[in-house]
Amino acid sequence: MDRLKWPATGGLVTCTILLCRSIPTTFALDKPVHTSAVVLASCAATILGLSRLLPQVSGARSHKGQQYDAVPLGDLGQPHSSREASPSPDDVRYPSSLRKLRILFMVLVVAICVRVELLREVLTNIQCATTSWEPIVPFLFALWDYLTVQRHRERFESEEEKPDSSVYDWLESSWTTARYRYVAATALLAYGAINGLATGSSPSSTFICAATLPYRWAIPLVQHISTLLDCVILYCVAQLLHQQEGRGQRGLRLRFMSIGWAGLFAAVITIVAGAVYYYFADYDRKWITTISSLYFWSTMRLSILMMLTTIHHVGVMTTSAITTFVAASTLTLGQAWNNPHPFPPTATGMAFVAICLAMFGFASYVHIESMEDRASSSTSPTFNKVPSWLYLILLILFSLRAGLWASHSNTVTYHPIDMLIYEAQTRHEAYINQTSASISLNEAAQAYEARYQRRPPPSFQHWYSYATARNTVVIDDFDSIHRDLLPFFALTPEDIRSRTWQLIANPWNDVAGLSIRSGKVAVMEGVVPTHRWMLDGLVDMIGHFAEWLPDMDLAFNVNDECRVAVPHDDMERMRQLGASAVPEENPKNAFSDGRTEQWQTMPAEPITETPLIEFSWQHTFQDFGNVGCPPGSPARAQRTWDVGILCTSCTHPHSLGAFLANWTLAGNVCHQPDLADLHGVYLSPAAFKGAHELYPVFSQSKVHGFNDILYPSAWNYIDKAKYDPSPEHPDISWAEKSSSLFWRGATSEGVSPGAGQWRGMTRQRLIHAANDINGSAAPQPILLPTHKSTSEGHSTLAYTTWPISTLAELLPVDVHVVEFVARCGGKDCTDQAAEFAPLVAPSDFQDHWKYKYLLDLDGAGFSGRFLPFLHSHSLPFKAALFREWWDDRVTPWQHFVPIDVRGQGFWATLAYFAGLKGTARLTGKETVLEAHEMEAERIAERGRNWAGQVLRREDMEIYFFRLLLEWGRLTDDARDSIGYVDAG
Ligand SMILES: *[C@@H]1O[C@H](CO)[C@@H](O)[C@H](O)[C@H]1NC(C)=O
Ligand SMILES: *[C@@H]1O[C@H](CO)[C@@H](O)[C@H](O)[C@H]1NC(C)=O
Repeated sequence: MDRLKWPATGGLVTCTILLCRSIPTTFALDKPVHTSAVVLASCAATILGLSRLLPQVSGARSHKGQQYDAVPLGDLGQPHSSREASPSPDDVRYPSSLRKLRILFMVLVVAICVRVELLREVLTNIQCATTSWEPIVPFLFALWDYLTVQRHRERFESEEEKPDSSVYDWLESSWTTARYRYVAATALLAYGAINGLATGSSPSSTFICAATLPYRWAIPLVQHISTLLDCVILYCVAQLLHQQEGRGQRGLRLRFMSIGWAGLFAAVITIVAGAVYYYFADYDRKWITTISSLYFWSTMRLSILMMLTTIHHVGVMTTSAITTFVAASTLTLGQAWNNPHPFPPTATGMAFVAICLAMFGFASYVHIESMEDRASSSTSPTFNKVPSWLYLILLILFSLRAGLWASHSNTVTYHPIDMLIYEAQTRHEAYINQTSASISLNEAAQAYEARYQRRPPPSFQHWYSYATARNTVVIDDFDSIHRDLLPFFALTPEDIRSRTWQLIANPWNDVAGLSIRSGKVAVMEGVVPTHRWMLDGLVDMIGHFAEWLPDMDLAFNVNDECRVAVPHDDMERMRQLGASAVPEENPKNAFSDGRTEQWQTMPAEPITETPLIEFSWQHTFQDFGNVGCPPGSPARAQRTWDVGILCTSCTHPHSLGAFLANWTLAGNVCHQPDLADLHGVYLSPAAFKGAHELYPVFSQSKVHGFNDILYPSAWNYIDKAKYDPSPEHPDISWAEKSSSLFWRGATSEGVSPGAGQWRGMTRQRLIHAANDINGSAAPQPILLPTHKSTSEGHSTLAYTTWPISTLAELLPVDVHVVEFVARCGGKDCTDQAAEFAPLVAPSDFQDHWKYKYLLDLDGAGFSGRFLPFLHSHSLPFKAALFREWWDDRVTPWQHFVPIDVRGQGFWATLAYFAGLKGTARLTGKETVLEAHEMEAERIAERGRNWAGQVLRREDMEIYFFRLLLEWGRLTDDARDSIGYVDAG
């Protein structure tokens, strides 16, 4: 018995640790009902299978004169305090009639089914969840044990009590022999674990838990009911196991089988309920039947771990105490280990004290248990020899936690934004240095070759004169064109031409064609009238330089969303192929003849085949969003399903504290699996028709991992949203502007057809977090000076969290949804209208210049307002995943203020610029963060000046001209033997 008990307990501990480590990123909770059915069935099968093995095992054992109790799974569910050699038949806790048994069985099955449904409820609104009370389970069992047994018992007397006991011995014995000893130990454990988990957890995210919906109070209630149900389930299991005791081998088998059957019944009921739901809910049908391989493997892993944990029990109370302690230690240790920085702010001292209490509670529990075992005549002394090495482990854990606590710093000595602004200046200077070095055509051509290992495309001299005649600042750095086009060298020109034709010959594709023939550009037939402005703008823009372009057709994406996401490994291969092509030494400086005939004409009847897959109104992250990431990267391998907390491992690589530090990296989804639930384009795009093969689509903007070719949007070129101050709407001086952050817009980032997708979209989340809607948004961190100073006399800063109601009073924010809720369906329309009420009237675009701070957010694609904002005297704050053609030219913190799309630094950033004066609720002290108006004005002016130099309409033409020359070469059959050669 002992021999098997220890490995089994070890297995329980190991599996609990593994479960705690894998659950936060498992895909299995995406479909909680499916997963529950699988886990229940597999655990039930394990138990049933084991029960088959039992008779032989125990039979063999009983030959040796042992009790059946000594099988590996002995003592299952038997509360240890009644561990007498044979249970007394009149034990008050154990019913004996068959009727009671049946009732127990039924209750167990029903409880499990209800528990599955409650789990589903909580998971669908996990952002409203609070700290779980699950650690209270062992305490409740101890209480039950106390009320039913211990109270009626004689005070437990240890046989080893020595006559000459010291104070310590006396304390120890009174602690370990009191009737309430288990209650006290488990209470400490529960208190410590709950507090440790609460204080150590990550800060709340901005995912919306709506003030106007019942989930805010209902989900915490459901969580607590679930905890109680868990107790009911465990109680039933314990009772059923105990019931059959004393009936010999058959009884032993029966007691396992009854549990197994209960699990199996529950699994079947769950599946049946799921099937009924499937029959009635046609909206969810596709979702219910689509099983991805990631989901499959996550669920298998979960099932196996759960199966292993079911194998062994040493009594309900002891098992739950072990599980609680191990789970709480694993989770809180992980949190403390991953967050050694001042941000997110955590009460590390509190967390440390809490976990020490939990350790003390657990150690006492084990100690008491071993005392009792030694004292009792039981043949199964569970913890007989434990304490020495167990205490060693606890001591190691204690030192680790103490070390983490001591090394955790809560303060910083400088404001991260000061440093970010300083660094941005240097980076911007370096950018100018490397992009405007060439002062002659020859130098530009040489710089081109040095950068891109190719000759410039034919007609480069015309581009050069065009660009310099328009005083371009950017002459050398067109890396974004190079990045976009490099993989296309892996396709033959023939392929590129036929793929262009496939796109534009089928109107369903939402791709419009432009053709260039003999230096004239024209729109091809079949363009939807709503997008006519876009094509006309393009004809206007290209018309300026079309005379130097070769004949070709171009495919323009008329949707806002990007299109082409080639899987990472294919893309790497294509890039390598593209980079390894060897261009000829002495190329011809002209495009080939006879290009006109190479482009297939439009068919009389539009074709119906399409290379694109439609994903409108669906999750796109797993199918498109992350395919550009290396296999094994977090975006591919992890699912951060708990949208209620900020994923700090996702923000850490690109952040400095709460602030966005690396704009490029922030746009890279590979380390940010949580973005799957945080942007309209991943949650539910309005129009998404995408390809996994490299199709040549010209798009205005794209998110990371897409291979569309970026070009300057006609929206900005023809000034659909224009910076146009007038006497009625002047762009007044900084000092005169209202000191507020301003945003007006529609809920048009994605479609929310009724499943609550809006709660995750960036626009909605940031509006929600910027307004105090009945206190429903979580408190936000602000970086404030502490009143201590460092040895050099600088004052230090620390993060404190403030409720939005206080922040909204102190910092003026005017951020609202206009008029009516767009792009919604079903109850999502009314829910949003209620949550964001009152919806305001739209304002004149030229009204923006009244405000110092302008918020800019992604829509269904890029934000068309950003360039006008940059041209103004106001300071734009930009939160975006979409990137445009100008991304290399503009430096965040030098020309605009970047904000993480999660919004965790939103208030802290605004507080830095606008200043904060007020009384902190917790400390009662007057806290003053000085405004940095001068920095704000400087960034606004630098942005404006820079936009006036490199983001003019001329700059869009110059970029597009160069892009199309490159494209002309790519689609030329002689692409490796043509190129610019210097005439001299
Ligand atoms: C820019 O170039 C000049 C001269 O080539 C050099 O002195 C300067 O350090 C460079 N600045 C940066 C920021 O690289
Ligand atoms: C941002 O991260 C990228 C990739 O790690 C790095 O190459 C780049 O230098 C970083 N930029 C800044 C401003 O730190």
